[in-house]
Order: sequence, then C-alpha cells, then structure tokens
Amino acid sequence: MRKDIAVIEGDYSGPEVVREAVKVMKRTAEVFGHQFSFTNVLMGGAALDATGNCLPQRTLDRCLASDSVLLGAVGGPKWDDVDRNNRPETGLLRLRKGMKLFSNLRPARVFPQLAAASSLKPEIVAEGIDFVIVRELVGGIYFGVHETVIENGVEKATDTMSYSEPEIERILRVAFETARKRRRGLVSVDKSNVLDCSRLWTKVFHRMATDYPDVQAQDMLVDNAAMQIVRRPSQFDVIVTENMFGDILSDEASMVTGSIGLIPSSSLGETSCGLYEPIHGSAPDIAGKNVVNPIGAILSGSMMMKYSFGMLEESAAVDAAVNRALDEGYRTGDIMSDGCKKLKTVEMGDLVASYIS
Ligand code: IPM
Ligand code: MN
Repeated sequence: MRKDIAVIEGDYSGPEVVREAVKVMKRTAEVFGHQFSFTNVLMGGAALDATGNCLPQRTLDRCLASDSVLLGAVGGPKWDDVDRNNRPETGLLRLRKGMKLFSNLRPARVFPQLAAASSLKPEIVAEGIDFVIVRELVGGIYFGVHETVIENGVEKATDTMSYSEPEIERILRVAFETARKRRRGLVSVDKSNVLDCSRLWTKVFHRMATDYPDVQAQDMLVDNAAMQIVRRPSQFDVIVTENMFGDILSDEASMVTGSIGLIPSSSLGETSCGLYEPIHGSAPDIAGKNVVNPIGAILSGSMMMKYSFGMLEESAAVDAAVNRALDEGYRTGDIMSDGCKKLKTVEMGDLVASYIS
C-alpha cells in the first residue's frame, strides 16, 4: 500500500520524538512492503515563528489531503505571551476543528514491565489498569465564545459551553462501538447535577444505551470519576466524556499508568484520515538533549497504521517491538529503574526499529 503522511514535528521535544516514530514507520513499511511518504508541515510555535500564523492554510490543506497526520507536541514558554488567537495551542485546536476530528481515543494501560512506575499502590495496580478514554474533541467550552471585557473598570472574562444533540450522539456512538470491541463496559462522565450540557448528554446516553443492550452502560459524575480513577481503576473499560473533562481525566489516567511518555492517541472524524500524537506535551525542560521518551510517538504511528490504514499486522509488529525493548530492560530516563539499561531518544528509536520483523 501507498500512504501519504503529513508530519507536524512541533515544538521543543516534538521533533525529537516524531523523528523516531517516522524511523520506525519507515522500517515497518520496508519489512511489510509498503510505501510511506512523509511530508513535513508547520503548525504551532514553529509555524508562528516562520509564517506569523499558528496554523497556515497550506498546512490545513496538506493535512486534509493526506492519508493521516503524525504530530509531536506544540507550545512552550517561548510563546507564553502570544495573544490567544495565535497561540501554538490554538493552532492545534483549529487543526482538530478543520479536520473535523471529533473523537479522541486515549488509552490508559499499565505496561506490566513498568507497573512499579504507577503512582498507585502495587495491590491496586495488580487488579489491572486497562481502559480507554473517548474524549469529545471539537465542541464544548473549548469552542464556545471566549470573551474578556472591561465593565465599569472591572475586567471580566466569559467562556461558554454548549453541545447539540447530534454532537453528543456521534461521540457516544463511537464510545458504544469501542466498548463492544473491548470488555463491553461504558461509563459516561458528566456533571448533570449542575450543567445543562451534561443533562442533555446523559439523556442521549440513556436513550442510546437501549440500542446497545450488550454494553453495560453507566453514568458517573466527573468529580466522582476523578476519584474512582485513582481509587479503583480496574473498574473502567471505556470512559466517554465531553472535551474539557476528557482533557483533565486523561492526564490523571496517564499518571496512574506511570508512563505518560508511552501513551499514544488517535483523533478521528467521519473519514479514515486522522491525527495521531503522543499525549505528553512538548516537555521544554528536557528538550534538545536526546533524552525524551519516543515510545508514545512510536505507538502513535502504530495506532495510525491500525485505525487509519487497517494494517493490523504492521501495528502489532510495532507494539511487539516496543514490548521486547521494555522486556529486555531498555528504558529512557523518565521510566528508568534499578537494573535497567538507559537509552537516549535516538537509541530507543533505533532499537525498536531494529526489532520490527
Ligand atoms: C491535550 C492538550 C491540548 C488540549 C492543549 C495543548 C490545547 O492539553 O491534547 O490534551 O487541551 O486539548
Ligand atoms: Mn491535555
């Protein structure tokens, strides 16, 4: 197969991890007889510096014309004072919206080799942590009206959250289908004791649950969910929630797994052209030193092959190569422990690529 991949290296540590992911994808294409072409495009801080725009139209057009997009991470202290309309993060939000990527999947699972890195007690980790957060990605408060005004000499800021029934239904559909392919447990997270958006959300959820009698559907308030994720994470299979709750809970979930550097994510809409990125940020403090963990980016490439290209074997080969490297005790600094062998970013990428077969 031929696949055309748009690559956004991004800012700070972004380029370092993306290069390793591209290296592993190239090796996979070689082994399995595919042709992958990679085209670098600019978004975020790098785009702002080069063009004055955090998401140039050219980039959006190129991404829409590609078979999928691989992204490192954007943003960092260099652009802290930039106006919100042109911040690196705004580039990412516009890209998600422009590509209509409403569904964001963020797996949270403990790699058995790294169980000790979890922030939870070993007996809780031993119960098993393997769930996925399905986050609505192009609606809610992220895309409502944002406004700061001065009224009678007092500064006042407003952000609005809104959701329509079709927006809720399409993301819940993805969640129910995802649960069906897993252990058939689905928890919808909301704040229906306070928010109208959540009340509409849960109404649609309960209605749709009758279409999926094989899925065990339950709703949970977001504050309780935040607590349950650290109390007994083994109870979760699939969590579905709106944009901002999903942002917050997915960071919490990654910490529970102990390995934020290892977690990939996919963002998809109605077509197979998606955006794949590690969930970690641009890690400005350790950027440029060849020490960041490229595994989250490498596994994002694996997810792209699986979900956008239907290359199940190829994706499994990458996952197996990562597992082998971890089994053999190879670690980057963030997940280093006694008795393991510490590798630089590039060395980890080389090792994983060499294990693809
Ligand atoms: C994420 C990030 C983004 C978000 C930021 C960079 C806008 O935190 O992907 O989780 O809030 O969605
Ligand atoms: Mn986030």
